Amino acid sequence: MNIRINNGFQSNTTTLDQPIVVTGAAGFIGSHTTDELLSLGHRVVGVDDLSTGRIGNLGESMRNERFEFVKADVAGPEMMDWLCQRYQPAAIIHLAGLVSVVAAQENPGRNYRLNLHATQQVAEAARSCGVSRVVFASSAATYGNTLALPVSEETPTRPEGLYGSCKLASEHLLQGYASSFDLEVVCLRYFNVYGSRQTGDSPYAGVISKFVEGFSSGNGVTVFGDGRQSRDFIHVRDVARANALAATVPLELRTLVANVCTGRQQSLNEVLSVFGNLFPHAPAPRRETARRGEILHSCGDPAIAKRHLGFQARTTLDEGLRHLIDHSGISISA
Ligand code: UD1
Repeated sequence: MNIRINNGFQSNTTTLDQPIVVTGAAGFIGSHTTDELLSLGHRVVGVDDLSTGRIGNLGESMRNERFEFVKADVAGPEMMDWLCQRYQPAAIIHLAGLVSVVAAQENPGRNYRLNLHATQQVAEAARSCGVSRVVFASSAATYGNTLALPVSEETPTRPEGLYGSCKLASEHLLQGYASSFDLEVVCLRYFNVYGSRQTGDSPYAGVISKFVEGFSSGNGVTVFGDGRQSRDFIHVRDVARANALAATVPLELRTLVANVCTGRQQSLNEVLSVFGNLFPHAPAPRRETARRGEILHSCGDPAIAKRHLGFQARTTLDEGLRHLIDHSGISISA
């Protein structure tokens, strides 16, 4: 099969035989993105240094003849250049990075290297090898603590820590490349992503993976505050679909920044009630005081992603949590 996809205003076209490079392919979002691209018939080259990603996340992909894995550090000198020269990809989906906000604060140098310097390596390799498009994993952390909800891409960006700052700096760097060279750039601002292959046993884990761990182990969970705080929780399969669309659909604009979110604001108490239905015998949650400095509510406006990428989240929280528990090998009667 050799379907040609017209690349909008640019003259070059991509085919399913021209690979898409996914950095951070063995990670949580990267492995789901790889699965999605392969299921659509694309060739994929996955890159990961396996520092936090796990080869086990790529189980099925590793058996797919349209997939190739390269163990490499994306931020390393010349690595992305070598990769782009060798594979001549149609697009790069750049997901490798330091994923934890807390870890970024604890190790600013590592945050800079992985969340900004690596972006420069990707952008420069894309430019010098004539890659048509770069999709970048940005974050709702670029907005900082904003009170006006839902947050649209027009909302001023005021990142509060080093993680959000480097994500925003990477967006700007890529936009500079797009305005200077023949390169399209899509920056996707992910909201609270959850799903299988996300680790729940680290202090940096997001609340849903912690809850899966706590409910399934029988250790119980802790709720900080009264549980009325809310987030825009989006399932990783939806995020993977957004990534695939961002890499392949024709674009009207040379650069695009788009929220990847559901537009639904769901409280921690709602999350707890879904878990409560799935684990009726679980101990009651422990209650602790709210974490200092934390935002109370977060919710994104999904309109831009819908208009420009044709993306809409499909998975409800209830479906997403059931799917997650089904894929965690957990017995619900526990
Ligand atoms: C995320 C980041 C956080 C960052 C913030 C702003 C992660 C894991 N969290 O936080 O570091 O400052 O974005 O960009 O990267 N909660 C519980 N019990 C738990 C865990 C969490 O009640 O065991 C609560 C939290 O207090 C919070 C909510 O659940 O109110 C969601 O927490 P989390 O998943 O960490 O996401 P964010 O707060 O959005």
